[in-house]
Amino acid sequence: MTVDPLDHGNPELPADERTELLLARMTLAEKIGQMCMFVGEPAEVNGDNVDEMTSYRLGVADQAELVRAGRAGAFLKVPGAKEAAHLQSFTRESRLRIPLLIATDAIHGHGMDVEAATIFPSPIGLAASFDSELVERVAACTARELRATGFHWTFSPNVDVVRDPRWGRTGESFGEDPFLVAELGVAMVRGYQGRTLGNASVLACAKHLVAGGCPENGLNGAPAEVSERTLREAYLPPFERAVRAGVSTLMPAHNEVNGVPCHASRELLNDLLRESWGFTGFVVSDWNDIPRLHSVHRVAENEREASYLAVRAGIDMQMHGGDFFEHVSELVREGKLSETRIDEAVRPILRAKFALGLFDPADAETKLPEASLLTAEHRELAREASRKSLVLLKNRDNLLPLGAARSLLVTGPNAHDQSLLGDWSRRQPEANVVTILQGLRALAAPHVNIVHSPIGSITAITDEEIAAAVRAAEDCDVLIAAVGENSLRDNPERSSGENVDRASLDLPGRQLELLQALAEAGKPLVVLLVSGAPICSEWLVEHANALVQAWEPGIEGGTALAEVLFGLQNPSGKLPITFPRSTGQLKTYAAQRPSSFHRGRFRFSTHEPLFPFGHGLSYTTFEYRSLRSKDSLAIGEPLQLELELENTGVRAGEEIVLIFLLDSYASVTRPAQELVAFERVQLAAGERRTIRVELASNVFSLLDAKFERVCEPGEFKLVAGLGKLSKNVVLVA
Ligand code: GLC
Repeated sequence: MTVDPLDHGNPELPADERTELLLARMTLAEKIGQMCMFVGEPAEVNGDNVDEMTSYRLGVADQAELVRAGRAGAFLKVPGAKEAAHLQSFTRESRLRIPLLIATDAIHGHGMDVEAATIFPSPIGLAASFDSELVERVAACTARELRATGFHWTFSPNVDVVRDPRWGRTGESFGEDPFLVAELGVAMVRGYQGRTLGNASVLACAKHLVAGGCPENGLNGAPAEVSERTLREAYLPPFERAVRAGVSTLMPAHNEVNGVPCHASRELLNDLLRESWGFTGFVVSDWNDIPRLHSVHRVAENEREASYLAVRAGIDMQMHGGDFFEHVSELVREGKLSETRIDEAVRPILRAKFALGLFDPADAETKLPEASLLTAEHRELAREASRKSLVLLKNRDNLLPLGAARSLLVTGPNAHDQSLLGDWSRRQPEANVVTILQGLRALAAPHVNIVHSPIGSITAITDEEIAAAVRAAEDCDVLIAAVGENSLRDNPERSSGENVDRASLDLPGRQLELLQALAEAGKPLVVLLVSGAPICSEWLVEHANALVQAWEPGIEGGTALAEVLFGLQNPSGKLPITFPRSTGQLKTYAAQRPSSFHRGRFRFSTHEPLFPFGHGLSYTTFEYRSLRSKDSLAIGEPLQLELELENTGVRAGEEIVLIFLLDSYASVTRPAQELVAFERVQLAAGERRTIRVELASNVFSLLDAKFERVCEPGEFKLVAGLGKLSKNVVLVA
């Protein structure tokens, strides 16, 4: 039986109204069906390779049956545009023809489910650009490629604040600083969703609420033992900012926080998220995390009780499959869950589908996927993002940019590998990716000879490979070694990424041995670090002549790196996360308390990090002068500050101006420094500019001992240029 299109099919009506009309027509089973997400990889494709849930991979016939019966609201892991359209077609055979949401983890491009897309630098690399506008454009581009292939929802941005880089997922975060993470998280939400949801936008998903970035021992999903203060000062603010920016969906964290699993925390998912912050979207569980309330956290004696705890806490959609539908249906029949709660869950799901235009005549999805993916414009954006993400950590004797070199050795496991793409990206067609070797070959001047000595794998470097590289080094002027990590999802040997955490921040495998052997050749050594997280080696800092943190720079990473090495581009990135000197130095991050290092000293080391948050060199020099502002300020008043910035070098460059605030004295301890503003400034050689920044009054506020947000009169210190300039300001009552 088809539905009368007038009831909810009228696109002239507001989404809210259409939602109510539709909701009123739905049976309880159809409502609960909207709360169910399934995996789209059909069993025929994956054989009996089932995950921990028997219904992980349904056959195509089973999927069709579910959709026709109105038992599915969304799918993830759908292997392409054709499969997405095929699943969607079954909805037209259902009673109410409610479209499916097709979701994926497009966290730095549409990299997981389609053959060929634009893969940008991993989020940690985007963070190193300190460029919110760039991040918004990257997300908007990704949204276009998603909608062009019939996808509507990305589980991004990850707004976890990361304070333990042993966590294998550090690369998918925006780093350690709550302000930077929040700014870029909001930018990404805006890019994905647009100013209002429509045919060219996708639903964003702020994840993982909360404190997944500081799991015990850095192990993904491990408990987060976090003080109330750290939760409120560091880990929660980026989520609140994303909610207030209108993020459509939210995903709880795998982990427990102080004994309560996030997936069962009504305090988190209802009281804080909805009642305090005013969230009006919907909450989707993380992968299998509802049954894990029973099987892992053991706060539910069975999966039915787990479903009850999760829905009661505030989870509106389950990822994925299993018996969730049956459990919730029984719980409602027994009165343990009310139909009102079901309506609360289903309403935002339907509203999102209306707002995305999914009920209305063919829209962006009719575009041929090939016409919208990896266009020249998208590739140029990927190149821009890669360029801005690169961080020049060290450049002894201004070795870079490479000038007179006539022959370059290029070696290392990441020299000619798609490890550039990072996690949450499938391998891309070779023709789409510019590896480091290819980038160097493409841009090297005719007289420069590029010698490649292959190294096969991050974790299995052989004696022969090292010997061959050392031999090749003898005839080269400069040695370039691309080392680090490999988090490519389909690489069984991957050394980091989701559920691949690190017990050590050192270079994995025999990479250091390779570098030490190369250093013996007595030639200048340029080390390129391809990694989603800090690699910490004091040897590297001492012996490499030049060191570039490339992160996971995406499909144009080879081009961007070659441009920097040959001087066609001036590096501008800065570290969004502290590089500890060693694993033993953890935790170390910029916003620690003054007492963190006032007394204790490591017996055989120093407490100073290898490279601090905000570090990044340029091929030019910048001078900061005359930080100016009012000397005193009334509580509630914004602060205007100015400073002079001059490019005192011989070539153009972009400087990221970071403004920190220090609260000199307060009723509770305060971070030694807090980032409160950042701005990229492009200056020609010799150019001088006045930089103006306005700080909102709330930057001077704090959470007092009772967690009340207050402004305390007293002295504050503004710091710019990583300490080069400072200025005191007194806040008066
Ligand atoms: C994983 C991740 C989450 C991701 C989801 C779907 O468990 O924790 O970030 O979005 O599964 O792939």
